[in-house]
Parts: sequence; C-alpha cells; structure tokens
Amino acid sequence: MKRYITSITYILAVILLAACGTPSSGTTGATGSGKWQSFSGDKRIEQRVDSVLKLMTLEEKIGQMTQFSANWSITGPVMSDDFQPYLEKGLIGSIFNATSVEGIRKMQQIAVEETRLGIPILFGQDVIHGYKTIFPIPLAEACSWDLEMMQRTAEIAAIEAASDGINWTFAPMVDIGRDARWGRVMEGAGEDPYLGSKVAEARVTGFQGGKDISSLGESTTLLATGKHLAAYGAAESGRDYNPAELSEHTLRNVYLPPYQAALEAGVTTFMASFNEINGVPATADRWLLTEVLRNEWGFKGFVVSDYTGVNELVPHGVAKDEKQAAELAVNAGVDMDMTGATYIKYLTESVKEGKVSEKTINNAVRSILEMKFLLGLFDDPYRYLNEERAKQNTMTPEFMETARKAVASSVVLLKNDNQVLPITKESGKTIALVGPLMNDSINLNGEWAGLGDRNKSIPILKGLTEKYEGTTIKLIYTEGASITETTPAKIAEAVAAARRADVVIAAMGEDFNWSGEAAVRTDIRLPEAQRELLRSLKETGKPVVLVTLSGRPLDLSWEDENMEAILQSWFPGTQGGHGIADVIAGDYNPSGRLVMSFPRNVGQVPIYYNQKNTGRPVDLDDESIDYKSSYLDTSITPLYPFGYGLSYTTFVINNAKIDKKALKTKDDKITVTANVQNTGSADGEIVVQLYTRQLVASVTRPVKELKGFQKMALKAGESKQVTFEVTSHDLAFYGIDMQKKTEPGNMKLWVAQHAADNSNEIDFWIE
Ligand code: BGC
Repeated sequence: MKRYITSITYILAVILLAACGTPSSGTTGATGSGKWQSFSGDKRIEQRVDSVLKLMTLEEKIGQMTQFSANWSITGPVMSDDFQPYLEKGLIGSIFNATSVEGIRKMQQIAVEETRLGIPILFGQDVIHGYKTIFPIPLAEACSWDLEMMQRTAEIAAIEAASDGINWTFAPMVDIGRDARWGRVMEGAGEDPYLGSKVAEARVTGFQGGKDISSLGESTTLLATGKHLAAYGAAESGRDYNPAELSEHTLRNVYLPPYQAALEAGVTTFMASFNEINGVPATADRWLLTEVLRNEWGFKGFVVSDYTGVNELVPHGVAKDEKQAAELAVNAGVDMDMTGATYIKYLTESVKEGKVSEKTINNAVRSILEMKFLLGLFDDPYRYLNEERAKQNTMTPEFMETARKAVASSVVLLKNDNQVLPITKESGKTIALVGPLMNDSINLNGEWAGLGDRNKSIPILKGLTEKYEGTTIKLIYTEGASITETTPAKIAEAVAAARRADVVIAAMGEDFNWSGEAAVRTDIRLPEAQRELLRSLKETGKPVVLVTLSGRPLDLSWEDENMEAILQSWFPGTQGGHGIADVIAGDYNPSGRLVMSFPRNVGQVPIYYNQKNTGRPVDLDDESIDYKSSYLDTSITPLYPFGYGLSYTTFVINNAKIDKKALKTKDDKITVTANVQNTGSADGEIVVQLYTRQLVASVTRPVKELKGFQKMALKAGESKQVTFEVTSHDLAFYGIDMQKKTEPGNMKLWVAQHAADNSNEIDFWIE
C-alpha cells in the first residue's frame, strides 16, 4: 500500500493501523529509566508521538533507533545492500551522508510511501564549518571572538544544507582542545571552557535558528548535535580515540561546561564520544549519559552514538560481543546507533530476554519521533526538498561576503616586525609570492568541509593578484616547495624571485588532511622541505612574511626568530584568498586572538593558560628553576599565549577599577571598568579579556580563568570605557565536595590583552 502522509491522511493511517497492525506495548508516559519527558513540553506533540508509538512493533521501534550512512555518487543514490532491506521494511530512523535533493527524495519516498507505517527519515550530515560555502575551520573562527559572526556562519551552513534536504547536523563539536597533536582541535573552539561555552551557544543557536523551539519547524534550520560527549579532546598523548584519564574535578570544571552550554542553548541531540573516561567508554557510560546529562542537567532530546561507537565496546573490552555492546549502550542512554546496526540486529532479542526494558526503547523512540514532529516531517516529509530553493540558497553573494569577513577576522597576526605588514596598494613594492599553499585551492577548505567544492576556493595568489591589480605593486610567483618536497632548482627559483623583490610572502603549512579525525602529528613543525625553503629565503636578507595555514597550533619557534612577520591563517575556506589579501593589504586590520596556546616545541604539549600553580611554581621574573615545576631545555611559557594577537595599531588598557572589594558567595556581583585606548594610527579592534584567579579554595584552582571578553572597535586615538560584571555565580566551581558553588577566598582579576598580560591587576575577595 502506497501512502503519502499529510496531516489528514496521517490520522486516517493511524486509525487504520490501530485496527489492523500488530503493535507492541507502548504506553503513554512509560518509564524506562524514568518518565519520558518531551523536549518541547508540548502535550499535543506528546500525544501525536504516542499515537505513532502505539502502532509500532518492537522491531519498528528499534528501527527508529537505527542510523545508516548512505554512499552517494554525484548523480544519485547508490544504496548499499547493507541497509536497503532495512529501509524497505521501515526499520531506519535516520540516514546520513546522503547528498543531493534527488537522492534524499528517493529514500524518503521509500520510507513514507512504501513501508507499513510510513515514518519519515531524519537526514544527517557533518555540516561543521559550512556546507557549500565553506567558512574558516571552527578553531579559526573562534579566534575571531565574534560570537555574532559565528552564529551567522552556522545559520548560513544550515540554510544551505537544509535546502539540500538535510535536517540534522553533527555539530557543533565543543570538545576542549589542549593538545595540538590531536588533529581534531581544528573542529573546536580551543582550550578555554568559558569561551568554548559561548561559542557552543552561538553555534547551536545558529544551526537551530534561535532558542525558540518553533524555529526547528522552519525548513532553513537543522537539529544540532553537541559532540563528542565527553572529553574526547582529553585523549592521552593526543592520540585519537585514546583514553581520557582525568579527575571528576577536571571533567566538570574544564571539559563539561561547553556541552552544558550547548544544552542550555537548546541543543536537540548529543553524540557520545569514542573514548573512555577513567575506564568507562562514553558509549556505555550510564553515569555520564543518563545521570549527568538527563537527570542532573535535564536534557530531553536524544543521544546518538558516534560512528560504530556501539560495536567498539567490544574491542574496548567492556562487552563480550556486539549484542552485549548494544545492551550496554542503550541502557547507558544511547538512543540511536550510528551505522553499527547493533540495535537492529540484537535488541529485539535483548528485550525478550529482559536485558533491556521495552520502556527504555519506548523512551528513546519517543525522543526520536518528537524531533521528526518538531521538524514538521510528519506533516510534509518532503518539505526540505526543493531543487529551486537549493539553487537559490547556495553560495549567494551575501554568503560569500560573510565568508570573506569571517576569514579576515579569524587570522591572527603573531609577529609584525618593522611593520612589514600591511603592504598597501600605494606602496609600489615588488612582492615575491612563494610556498606550497600560495596557489592552492584544494587545502584551503580544511578537513570536514561538507560538500564544499575544493576547486572553487580562492587561492591566496588569486586573492592578492585581484587585490593589487591596477596598482603599482608587482607580484612574482614561484612555488619553491610542495608541502613535503622541494628540489635545489625550485629553491633557487624562489631565492631568485626573493632577490628581485622588496618583500617575500610565503604561504606554508599543513596538508588539509593532517588535521581532523585520526590525523595526529607528533612533530608539529612545518615539514622539512618548507623549512629548508624558508632558511634559503631568510639568507637573501629580504623580509619574509610567513602566512601559515594549519588545522592546529604549530611549533613556530624557528619562524618566530627568523621571519619578519607571521600571519596564522588556519584553513580559511571558500573565500580564503580574498580574506587573507584583505588583511595583507591593510583593508582589514587583523583582530583575531589565539584560542589555543602555541607551544615552543611539541614537548610542552599539552600546554594551556589555565594551568595549576603547583607547590613549586616557577617565578617567571627569577632565572632560577632549581627544583621548580619547569623544563631544563625550554621555558614553561608558550611561544604565543592564549588570547594573543597583534593589530596594525596598538592598544593600551589602563585605569582598571572595581566598584567594591568584597563579593558575597551568593547573588552578588562586582563591576569592573577600565579605559581602553587605541594608541596607534589605524582604526582597529581589540578583544579585551577579563581573567580571575581564586588564590585559596578547597581544591586547587587555575592560575587564571577567562570570565569575560569584549571585542571593541576603536578609531585611531580613540578611548572607550569597558565594563564587565562578574557575579558570584560566575566564580562558582566544583570544589572538594563535588558541588558547584562559590567559595570564600582571596581573588585577583586582570583586564588584559591576552592571558600572559598582567598589567591591570586588582585584588578582591569573596566573603
Ligand atoms: C566522527 C563524528 C562524525 C561521524 C559521522 C565520526 O567518525 O567522530 O564526529 O559526526 O563520524 O561522520
């Protein structure tokens, strides 16, 4: 029987099926691990969910908890034999990696028109930093400290993806990243829980279209996923999928806040992480996924496993086989199995054996069905699918403009001796352009670049050529080296170009797939071929501007000593060449600030500003490091600290004041003000950062913690007052009793330009 479900036909179908189907038990308000609570709290939706649930067989319910990955060719769907039979029987809840309106329509048609209940499918995709218009990698965007911009780029990504029939993204990734070896730092917002939480909120709000639940029903938004719960970034030795061995204090004070912020911003789904924490793989961690996530934080959406995360409980060594793995995962709180097919293969039997309660299944299915109702898929399963809309909503001029600005505001100027940058159009200089990433478009999009066409990204060479066209600037281009190789002839050519030029710009860095999943490096310097080229360029005596493209902080110690300027440009996406050219030419004054500390060498990693003091701290003003927590062969400080970045102008912060010295532990606040002045000759933006430190508490506290920031635009010479309010609640943390509260104690605060800036220090206390 073919059925197309509209609201009216749907009700008829429900009545019909109620009479002739073979439903399993599914009672309203059933409890598996507690009474089901809907995400929306909307009784009408709850009733609709229950009316569907009542019609479902146990197998159909478990089908809803099953997700498969599709393999699509450019021209259409190539359904893998593995999952087609499940699709035809109505035993799939979601499909991901299905691309093209035509292909998705075909699958949705099978689900709603050719299966017994006709339940529509959720289509997921990793829309991480853009879908077709590719924005800078998330780590880069976070360096803009511009939350509104990050929200907008997520909105645009959602508009583009939703026009192609996608209604669920596996983003944002909100894992704290303290280890530059770990390739997935590119997907997150860096090392800080406060900034990470703000970025999580901005991205969830962007993808889901706001905090109002009704925006999920617009066909321009996506369900978002907070991932990877939890502490995936704490992988030992930076090795992907490795265990995270960490105290509950660190977990709660550092790693969990961004997930909780995503939840508070209304995130509809979470993804369990691959790793174990303290011996328990997250996918089997009932404490994490049920006690903390649902019972403590009140999450009411659903949890999906990571890719074959359930099956991996076997090699992890906590399940003897995949059946037991499925039981552990579902009982822990994983509602949907991504690609592993463990639920659909084994859970019917597990329920019959009493190892999994049907109530647990019912609750999971309710949460999944509710999302389908909220997206409007039961009313019109094809509402996301419209080729015309897809054309109109793709790579529009407005999206390109936003992408270009996103690039310019994400790059971080790390060094600029003798003001070699900007190279203005009027300067009449001859510039030698070299390096493997100068005329590259393939790498620019970085990893996790959705359906972004790598050939469409603007190379830096093109950006600079267009920028300087018709001016007195002369450009000479020669590659000099590929990412990993060079030859004496190539180097000689680059050196000859440098000799003919006033200044050299070298675009160097990593291959795009050296970061992202399973892309870990133990040597985070530029590859030797590129360093060799840089050494030769340096010998010409010409100033060299190094433009670095990477998915992680690199060890740039040699470059810091030897290059005139360094512009950290990450992987900038579709508009990379234009945005970088805007900065080089001075049409945009760089405003990016680092969100991960740059180490002096890989041996310092993990390195982060919010470290603990230890019992034997190094006094940075004192040379002596005897029996102190230090290194014999390098400093303990990073090469470039968190929050750091230069501008073409200079700023001074002074006259920092606090309205009162004592703060109560509850319901109190202090107001901090300071004067911020642009002391240079160009207009520019500064990110004013507020840090605090609690000197004594029931557990050791970090030497600094970011508690606020403001990105301010100031004209040359202009002064403005900055104001921060810090509440007692902002200073709360998990102490010795593992309760989150504000403890009395002496405090310090700084109104600073970066984490190592101690110039505006104020003492206060909590009483
Ligand atoms: C990654 C996830 C991603 C999933 C689906 C996994 O390997 O860890 O972040 O969402 O694949 O592509």
